[in-house]
Amino acid sequence: MNLILLGPPGAGKGTQAEKLSEICEIPHISTGDILRENIRQGTQLGMEARQYMEKGELVPDAVVIGIIRDRLKEPDCEKGFILDGFPRTVEQADALKKILREMGRPIEHVIDIDVPDDVVVERLSARRVCDSCGAVKHLIYNPPREEGVCDECRGVLYQRADDNPETIRERLREYKKKTQPLIDYYRVEGLLREVDGSLEMDQVLKEICSVIER
Ligand code: AP5
Repeated sequence: MNLILLGPPGAGKGTQAEKLSEICEIPHISTGDILRENIRQGTQLGMEARQYMEKGELVPDAVVIGIIRDRLKEPDCEKGFILDGFPRTVEQADALKKILREMGRPIEHVIDIDVPDDVVVERLSARRVCDSCGAVKHLIYNPPREEGVCDECRGVLYQRADDNPETIRERLREYKKKTQPLIDYYRVEGLLREVDGSLEMDQVLKEICSVIER
């Protein structure tokens, strides 16, 4: 199954992609995670990406398209993949279509996880991420058993640098200007499925599974 998860920052794309990846046994590919890992390792790519990510702006298309082109060629993508945070512009969507056409791998579903802006702000302000295994928590909706400590690996939970009010506002602006047009792009292609992302996590998962099965 070849799947794209669309939605604003904090919609729950990463949360749902992790669960779907386990259920469907296909990789969860997040351009945000790949870029953050490059920043952590201090690569050239990471240094370039950081200046955009810190401001809440999108990283240039050519950079992320190159990342995805390489990643989709990895053997673990043969059975399918879940794209989280890519594509984010019409140019990225066109490039993805071309890459997948060359590989003979069509996109099967594009799931738009919709949530209003106030929910985005509430979710991102209280999100915490494990610095060791990358597990994602929420201080109210999915709190860790012990404050500041990851349940899974006992790593340290931290707040992402771009989860501050000013950067969240900019990320939302970027989303509306550059990514929201993809909703119509995929609707026209007949691939768009919409789910209500403001429901509880398990309910959102159920909705996604049901639209995929349909
Ligand atoms: P990226 O990492 O992709 O961030 P994003 O799209 O802004 O999305 P998030 O990771 O913030 O949110 P999410 O939807 O995954 O929500 P989550 O599941 O964590 O990108 C970061 C930056 O990298 C971009 O700004 C850009 O600079 C760059 N970048 C990345 N890809 C790019 C691209 N293709 N092109 C150009 N630049 C790119 O959930 C959020 C919180 O809510 C968590 O705490 C979670 O526990 C909680 N939660 C989730 N679901 C629910 C629920 N149903 N109910 C209650 N709480 C919930």
